[in-house]
Amino acid sequence: MSQNKQKMEEKPIVTVGFGHQGGKRKLGKASYVTEEQTKTEIKTTRISVSITKTAATDTYTNTELRKKYRIEKYDLHPGYVFPESVRSLIPRNTPEYVDRGFNYVERIVRALYYFKQCALVGPSGTGKTHIVYLIAELCGLPIWEINCGLQTSAYDLFGRYIGLGKENWVDGQIVMWCRNGGILYLDEANMMKQDIASRLNPVLDTRGHIVLTEKDNEIVQRHPYGYLIISMNPFSAEFVGTKPLNAALRRRMSVWINFDYLSIGDKIASEEVELIVKRSGVDAKTAEKIVQVGAELRRQYKNGDLPYGPSPGDLINWATLIVDGCSPIEAAVETIVGTTSDDVEIQAAVKRIVESVFS
Ligand SMILES: Nc1ncnc2c1ncn2[C@@H]1O[C@H](COP(=O)(O)OP(=O)(O)OP(=O)(O)O)[C@@H](O)[C@H]1O
Ligand SMILES: [Mg+2]
Repeated sequence: MSQNKQKMEEKPIVTVGFGHQGGKRKLGKASYVTEEQTKTEIKTTRISVSITKTAATDTYTNTELRKKYRIEKYDLHPGYVFPESVRSLIPRNTPEYVDRGFNYVERIVRALYYFKQCALVGPSGTGKTHIVYLIAELCGLPIWEINCGLQTSAYDLFGRYIGLGKENWVDGQIVMWCRNGGILYLDEANMMKQDIASRLNPVLDTRGHIVLTEKDNEIVQRHPYGYLIISMNPFSAEFVGTKPLNAALRRRMSVWINFDYLSIGDKIASEEVELIVKRSGVDAKTAEKIVQVGAELRRQYKNGDLPYGPSPGDLINWATLIVDGCSPIEAAVETIVGTTSDDVEIQAAVKRIVESVFS
């Protein structure tokens, strides 16, 4: 006798997301993965078969957005469904990205499609991390993010044995990416330590592999849908702490995309004003002034007169406190003034710029 049991389960997915600023908003409908499980048990012969079919709801839920960014024709994992264990690493609800005619999304996705990897260069706060999350979401790819400026050890990146002896090996982030695919995002790639960079080189050849010397030289092949994006601040004397990118890494990147602020100096982008209004709820006139201050601070940062230029995210934080009832200057002191520097003289200079626009 056989017995068929069908079970429909709906369970919410816990996912990574790009942190959003701005007033509290109602999120859209939660996303669900629908699983259909078929179990067949034949008791007399003691065979038990369990097949789990998962509806591919993790990909292309956002057909309209893929169209808007003109990336419908680039399928980055044709016919491949990422395993359940890594699906929670596909970002959800990434806030809107203002492209302003540069077609960044299209250019990056195209680079990944043809070359598997690309480099993003631009000052802090120009939206490099944001766009990587957006692309991962639109293309249905898990994201493995590593900040190379932090003192992350080779153990964390490649893996290690835990406990006593050699029984329990745990893969590090880079090895997990190699095995499972998705986007490996190396932020501040120019700050990468030399020992890590040399171990990464072989895997950066697109058909490459990693040798786990710590694990009896196991060879891990790069997943066919394993993509790489590196990002960094431009190397120049003004950008304190930046270093030129390691030559081997530079040679392996076929496409380089430059990012800059939406508004700088006298150039105010109406799209940035609209973004501030939309994400914070502030009125358009105040948003324009906020962007004016931001653009001036960025100009001074690019000239080397300030240690930091505010991102749209920083300006949204400022606007959010104004909407909550703070005066523009009070709100600025709590947000962009402190974000720019903890040096009181620099803070006073930033405050003067705010006052000159808001007086
Ligand atoms: N073009 C844009 N459209 C919408 N939001 C943006 C845009 N550019 C930047 N932002 C917002 O500004 C903030 C900073 O962006 P992000 O962290 O992506 O910058 P970054 O280039 O990665 O900076 P860093 O070099 O410091 O890592 C985020 O809140 C992001 O959402
Ligand atoms: Mg970043």
